[in-house]
Amino acid sequence: MNKPVRDQFLVFGKPVLEEAEIEEVLDSLRSGWIGTGPKTARFEEDFKRYKNAPYAIAVNSCTAALHLSMIVAGLGPGDEVITTALTFCATVNTILYVGATPVLADIDPHTFNLDPDRVEEKITPRTRAIVVVHYGGYPCDMARLEALAARHGLIILEDCAHAIETEYHGRKAGTMGDFGCFSFYVTKNLVTGEGGMVLTKKPEQAARIKTLALHGMTHDAWKRFGTEGFKQYQVVEVGYKYNMTDIQAALGIHQLKRIERSWLRRREIWHRYQDAFANLPLQRPLNSTTEIRHAHHLYTILWDEACIGMPRSHFLDAMKANNIGISVHYLSIPEHPCYIEMFGWRIEDYPVTAQVSRQTVSLPLSAGLSDADVTDVITAVSGILTEAGGH
Ligand SMILES: Cc1ncc(COP(=O)(O)O)c(C=O)c1O
Repeated sequence: MNKPVRDQFLVFGKPVLEEAEIEEVLDSLRSGWIGTGPKTARFEEDFKRYKNAPYAIAVNSCTAALHLSMIVAGLGPGDEVITTALTFCATVNTILYVGATPVLADIDPHTFNLDPDRVEEKITPRTRAIVVVHYGGYPCDMARLEALAARHGLIILEDCAHAIETEYHGRKAGTMGDFGCFSFYVTKNLVTGEGGMVLTKKPEQAARIKTLALHGMTHDAWKRFGTEGFKQYQVVEVGYKYNMTDIQAALGIHQLKRIERSWLRRREIWHRYQDAFANLPLQRPLNSTTEIRHAHHLYTILWDEACIGMPRSHFLDAMKANNIGISVHYLSIPEHPCYIEMFGWRIEDYPVTAQVSRQTVSLPLSAGLSDADVTDVITAVSGILTEAGGH
């Protein structure tokens, strides 16, 4: 084998952590208050303001955010919930947590988001909700999905795990549906280690999510152990342990302050890839437009074995051999044994998803990449294609 393009492994989705958040975490550690407290409340306020949303509740993952939203939306056994066949397992698992039935719809071949025509075909009298996923940070066709939801009386939940900075005709992702769910997992555009946020529009829903996120108790620990007078908590319903801690919020507060700077850097990297790959036999992702702000969470190419003459698995191995971390978003939902066993889903029924699942590759797109790192990725991709004889 040739010498690798680089000596040091380039970690896929490596987060950028700066002094400000490191100091803020230390401040929490030194304060003696490391659980849910004032920093979590501040992060919720900051996120709410950033999104211009009426209510924001911090939790410990997007999975928790989705689960609580589904409970509060009143979804349960007998209800069908339509979602995309190309997503992370948590989108589907949370539908199952509440006992509802997930129904998959195929995707659009350009955006890789739910195709509204395919969604419409799946609507039955039992359909209660649609979970939209803004794949890679590109917004779904909300106008058409909202029209469908209005016509059939459906709830919309937005899985915004990739979509913190996403906008659709000036509307911010997570504020369009009835619920918006965000992830601050280590590879995401804003990281708190593990973490998530729910946006809602109704005060009673926000209050219930807050209660359910901490055992179903009437007061959170900050109120129980803080400086205010003693208050006895009560459990008002069976809740969960989904609260965010101040150590996580300490990271989030400063990551949020830098959100635009990080986005601009990823956009720069994105356009370097777009230019470098313009004449290669790869399908590149869609750019932002005047109506659409792409969050630039994933940079995904399609690797077509038939056209390039090399299987995708060889490309993935060759990138690793060049010390470049890559990923696949995703092996599609109807290809996982767990769901095949439960629902008998067949990948042939989702032809666009099948193709993307077979061909997609995500290249590194972190604000922490240096210009030299980006050059290495481009050199490796071009070199492997040359070896394959693809151009
Ligand atoms: C589309 C999508 N939904 C949900 C999740 C779950 O997020 P979390 O890890 O914060 O629970 C992820 C995480 O990777 C995701 O990519």
